[in-house]
Amino acid sequence: MKMIIDTDPGIDDAMAILYAAAHPGIELLGLTTVFGNVTARQATRNALHLVERAGLDIPVAQGENKPLVNGPIEPSHHVHGPEGFGELTSIDARGTKEEEGAAAFLVRMARQHRGELVLCPVGPMTNIAKAMLLDPEFAGNLAGIVFMGGALDVPGNVTPHAEANAYHDPHALDVVLQSGAAIRMVGLDVTNRVLLDAGDFEALARINPAQGPFLQEISGLYLEFYAGRAQEGCGLHDPLTVMAAVMPDLLGLTPTPVRVVLEGPEGGATRRTTGRAEIEVATACDPELVKELFFAPFRVAASAKVGAVAIP
Ligand code: RIB
Ligand code: CA
Repeated sequence: MKMIIDTDPGIDDAMAILYAAAHPGIELLGLTTVFGNVTARQATRNALHLVERAGLDIPVAQGENKPLVNGPIEPSHHVHGPEGFGELTSIDARGTKEEEGAAAFLVRMARQHRGELVLCPVGPMTNIAKAMLLDPEFAGNLAGIVFMGGALDVPGNVTPHAEANAYHDPHALDVVLQSGAAIRMVGLDVTNRVLLDAGDFEALARINPAQGPFLQEISGLYLEFYAGRAQEGCGLHDPLTVMAAVMPDLLGLTPTPVRVVLEGPEGGATRRTTGRAEIEVATACDPELVKELFFAPFRVAASAKVGAVAIP
């Protein structure tokens, strides 16, 4: 599957990108970056770091640093750390970003891989909306969009109503929801049901000595944040989105027309509506199965390196 991840790395973004890099069924064509957990500049540096760490040679295009309509937002440093990777303060990246911005890059890649490219936005939807405004054929050129965002039947995580990615740019999400693209929404309804705790990160470090210790190190602050909310582990938000793209039957999906509240105290809330095209909303999952499948590519990639297990 040809995939581009639009991302604001971010700890769970890092998990999603390294998962995609390790998965034999995913051909990662590039990363585009956006504000959210961090600034767009930090997101780009972190994305370049992850590309290098994963041994990939793919482009990273920097995108928007503020929402489509609303004013700039404060990055979520209290959740993801001052630089986006927990307590790490020095993050090296030797590669350089593309000269082309994210929206133009997305438009070009969707044309070049017409009907084949799956887009996984796991941050605010700003770059995707910009690409849609830039090229009216962009949505139709994609094979589909599988995005992390929204909360349909559960409370939000930034306000009682809104999930972070939807909250940070509701207008952009609205553009995307009305685009006519084939859309799958992976929101808090499922991502907060799959929790990774300190023991899971220890296991990941054992299973995959190349990437596991890094993910274990950056997850400390993230786990503390969730512990402060009386949650025993961090939600598998962004990784589950990539998994739901490459394994379409992994989650229970309910066709639902969805709108997003644009303003006011409920801004960023995602609601059922009428008179709009249905999208696939992830409403059910088997947390234990998801966790096992999340570990699988990390296990296989590590084994393949020492020649012990063949990649299926
Ligand atoms: O609400 C969870 C989402 O917000 C994830 O994408 C996380 O990385 C943050 O961007
Ligand atoms: Ca994210």
